[in-house]
Amino acid sequence: MSDIAQRLEFACDTARKAGQLAFGYFSNLSSLTVVSKGIQDMASEADVNTENLIRAAIAKQYPNDDFFGEESSDTYQAKQGCGVWVVDPIDGTQPFINGIRSWCISISYIENDQIIIGVIYDPCADEMFAASLGHGATLNGKPMKTSAAKSVAEGLISIGYSNRVTPAATLDPLKRLMMQQGMFHRSGSGALSLAYVAAGRLLGYFEPHMNIWDCAAGMLLITEAGGQTYDCLQTDNYLISGSVVIGAADGVYAQLLNIVEG
Ligand code: IPD
Ligand code: CA
Ligand code: CA
Repeated sequence: MSDIAQRLEFACDTARKAGQLAFGYFSNLSSLTVVSKGIQDMASEADVNTENLIRAAIAKQYPNDDFFGEESSDTYQAKQGCGVWVVDPIDGTQPFINGIRSWCISISYIENDQIIIGVIYDPCADEMFAASLGHGATLNGKPMKTSAAKSVAEGLISIGYSNRVTPAATLDPLKRLMMQQGMFHRSGSGALSLAYVAAGRLLGYFEPHMNIWDCAAGMLLITEAGGQTYDCLQTDNYLISGSVVIGAADGVYAQLLNIVEG
């Protein structure tokens, strides 16, 4: 098995184990301790312990690799000369802590400024979205493709927002989307929405700013499933600064880009 195939298998296996742990917390929400990291930004011991599980698995299997996870990002110090695993242990924390089933585990591996592995696991639906660079994308092991739609009018575009940007940064494109007969969608998990774009369920996704742990896996899923994305890794210091995120089916991307840019 090639190194990339081994890494993909490892990422899927780890995402599934992390999903089982997180699902245990989700099944017993009344005993979960939730703390606020800021307005609309919560974390629980589920986020922290799920990240710890993933981090330990990576340290054991790939001790020379770097690790960058949301819950430990504040103290991150880059290792030089190696690839980095970029992890969001639970994306969709708001839905998670409120008993809504749209949340997921997101694991990616970046080497030489290229996303090599992207895995998103939805424990509630037992859906594993997986891709490796140049080898296509799968949903539960079966090849997955973005939608064949040619216009935003043909389906749903998911839109994300956080208080890292102004409301106008989301509202202006939203208005333009509606003016072009598009329809918006918002599940509370940007990563899972990107996976849904890759699976052809949503036509596209737009958010003015996401951190790299929110979007790296989903972006590879989309491009490997035949869609297009804005290249978030072209942003200076992308690991720390994050980026605008745009991803869509091939036939819709240009229109969505135009809607975002105005
Ligand atoms: C958030 C979710 C949300 C998106 C935000 C993210 P979290 O991640 O993906 O849908 O709009 O930008 O920060 O806090 O649930 O891991
Ligand atoms: Ca996230
Ligand atoms: Ca998170």
